[in-house]
Amino acid sequence: MAYTSQKIANWYFTIALFLFVLQVIMGLWLISNYVFTIPQEVVNVFPFATARAMHTNLLVLWMLLAFMGGTYFIVPMETESEIWSPNLAWFQLIALVVTGVVALVGFAFGWTKGRPLLEIPPPLNYMVVVGALVFLFNVGMTMFKARRWTVIQGTLLGGLVFLALLYLAGIPFYRNEVIDWYYWWWVIHLWVEGAWELVTGAIMAFILMRLTGVDRQVVEKWLYVEIGLFMFTGIAGTGHHYYWIGAPKYWLWVGGVFSALEPLPILLMVIDTMNHVRHRHAQIVNPHTWTIAMGCAVFHMIGAGVWGFAHTLPQVNYYTHGSQVTVSHGHLAFFGAYALLNLLVFYFAMPQLKGIEIYKPTRAKLGFWTMCSAMMLMGLTFGIAGVLQSYLERVLGMGYMTAQSYMRLWMGVTLVLGVFFLGGVLITVCDLLSPKAATERLD
Ligand code: HEM
Ligand code: HEM
Ligand SMILES: [Fe+2]
Repeated sequence: MAYTSQKIANWYFTIALFLFVLQVIMGLWLISNYVFTIPQEVVNVFPFATARAMHTNLLVLWMLLAFMGGTYFIVPMETESEIWSPNLAWFQLIALVVTGVVALVGFAFGWTKGRPLLEIPPPLNYMVVVGALVFLFNVGMTMFKARRWTVIQGTLLGGLVFLALLYLAGIPFYRNEVIDWYYWWWVIHLWVEGAWELVTGAIMAFILMRLTGVDRQVVEKWLYVEIGLFMFTGIAGTGHHYYWIGAPKYWLWVGGVFSALEPLPILLMVIDTMNHVRHRHAQIVNPHTWTIAMGCAVFHMIGAGVWGFAHTLPQVNYYTHGSQVTVSHGHLAFFGAYALLNLLVFYFAMPQLKGIEIYKPTRAKLGFWTMCSAMMLMGLTFGIAGVLQSYLERVLGMGYMTAQSYMRLWMGVTLVLGVFFLGGVLITVCDLLSPKAATERLD
């Protein structure tokens, strides 16, 4: 580790990992609600919607903290300078964590705005905005002072500014529900299929360059192509959420055509990642970190590209909209693209931050393969439940609860897989918090 201010990143990562564990425990509670009949007394005090808000908001919070930590780790290396103000970085971490804790406790008492994934109510929204502004200011000042601009930095900063601006669209409350959903998607869709993809592109490019020793120009050339395509397809692709909310009909065309092209940049990322290892100049010192990078690119392609494409055309979405097919895609895409990206950053940075150049990969491999196989299978079981649901409800016209009884078996299998997934997460988290140095050099 070359810069002392990078150490702050370790705190962001550690807290993010803790929230990840909590998120997954909440997921197990949620799936239990589909498998067992929960006593009414329990439902009265802890309804499904509350647990769901906790599960998804914990997800968003740990991902944002991981992106911020990742940025604080990468920016000093890219700018070759210390972070402008480590104190601000501390302040911002504390502000966001306090906001998160207040939000979670608030959800338990019914203090929520009600919009999925963005349930945090207005006073807390402003705290998030303050945290984000402090973060952008600190990162911007670091870059500005260093005056050593790279495409990776520019893309990272661009993605983060775009991310923060979009958050603003989700704060106002509109009485007209169509308008309310219209802007809700600016946050949700344009985050995961726009701003976050830019952040991912920049982080991947940085790590691939450092891991393989491939020339910066090669990595950055691909970055231009990918971000150009992501923006082109992702922005107009928002239309795939406007099919049935009461928006004008042309969205059926715009959404269908552009979102069908969205897998393209994701596929490019896989090809590009594979190419790098062929053209590498350096020995990859931690081969497991490389496995995670490949895993992320491939899982991103399956979860977002293939699963997204499967239900993005209006002709299909008419049947699958809002069913467990969506849940299947949500899990595979979020895990493949962003959970694995963040785990990649953690495995790249955390051993280094603890003074370990080459880590022992035994536990890391066990955790990685358990998580990946369990999540892939969960995607399949959620998917089977979803196809059943679409057929029973939308083709046969069966009632929601009657259809649920046919899906229960698959939700039960998902619960079992979820327990394995939690096991994989716990192994990974323990390993990251106390990584072991390799005793011999590994190839
Ligand atoms: C990493 C990128 C992605 C992530 C994290 C992601 C995540 C999600 C999530 C969580 C939802 C559910 C939102 C809700 O209704 O609560 C969703 C919906 C959807 N996603 Fe993605 N997605 C990604 C990329 C894509 C791509 C590339 C496509 C198309 C090719 C796509 C197509 C869709 C469609 C059509 C829906 C709406 C499903 C419905 O009508 O119920 N997604 N996505
Ligand atoms: C043991 C592991 C997990 C289980 C059992 C689980 C289960 C669930 C359940 C039952 C729901 C509610 C679905 C509904 O409303 O019908 C849900 C929602 C969701 N979970 Fe998980 N989850 C787990 C882990 C994860 C992980 C690791 C991620 C992300 C990396 C994730 C992301 C999401 C998202 C984005 C939603 C909202 C989906 C949507 O709006 O369609 N979950 N989860
Ligand atoms: Fe989308």
